[in-house]
Amino acid sequence: MTNERAPAGARHVAIIMDGNGRWAKKRHLPRAVGHQRGVEAVRALVRAARQMGLEALTLYAFSTENWRRPEEEVSALFGLLKRYIREDLAEFVENNVRLHIIGNYKALAPDVVALLDDALERTAHNDGTTLAVALNYGSQDEIARAAARAAAKGPITPEAIEAELDTAGLPPLDLLIRTSGELRLSNFLLWQVAYAELWFTDVLWPDFTPDHLREALDQFGQRERRYGGR
Ligand code: FPP
Repeated sequence: MTNERAPAGARHVAIIMDGNGRWAKKRHLPRAVGHQRGVEAVRALVRAARQMGLEALTLYAFSTENWRRPEEEVSALFGLLKRYIREDLAEFVENNVRLHIIGNYKALAPDVVALLDDALERTAHNDGTTLAVALNYGSQDEIARAAARAAAKGPITPEAIEAELDTAGLPPLDLLIRTSGELRLSNFLLWQVAYAELWFTDVLWPDFTPDHLREALDQFGQRERRYGGR
């Protein structure tokens, strides 16, 4: 398999995967089918990210606000997550993919926590692409937790907070993508987005392919990042 390089030196891409419900509705299918197809898009994208040599891919899978959805949908989402991890873990191990979780995942159901802990342990020594999955994640919650830990150690500075974020150890965020035409950050990576480029597309998440990622990265490569300087 040929190894392509991530264009323009992007190291860390994050995605708000939105539009599974609308994808299903357009086809008169249950929302759960949209989420199922969403997982297929995740699977293809993780493989592409690895082949591109991207250092980190962070995916917004379940927010602290998603608990407001009907119980049936919440359990369908966690069922899909469990199946994905079970089915693809051997592939992660074999292909040097490290799993990382951001968000308060320890508060999830015990079987989900056990499955994730096992997958985290079995991929902990991999140093290829990091797949960071946001679960029970809210950025304001993350920052508050990080600030509390920083305060317990010493003066609160941006660097001290950053070192305590759930993303500590990942490369700086280069590019944030949101699908389905919504122009919001929805409490995702608010700290990390400080100098990231943003890329929005009308494509609904189940239709998002590695070619869309390449398109976003190509455009990222054409942008001039000044980090506040001139
Ligand atoms: C947004 O679609 C998508 C989600 C809330 C969940 C994303 C989850 C997955 C793709 C599956 C599990 C994740 C992994 C990493 C295996 P929506 O339901 O908000 O769509 P809508 O706005 O069109 O209703």
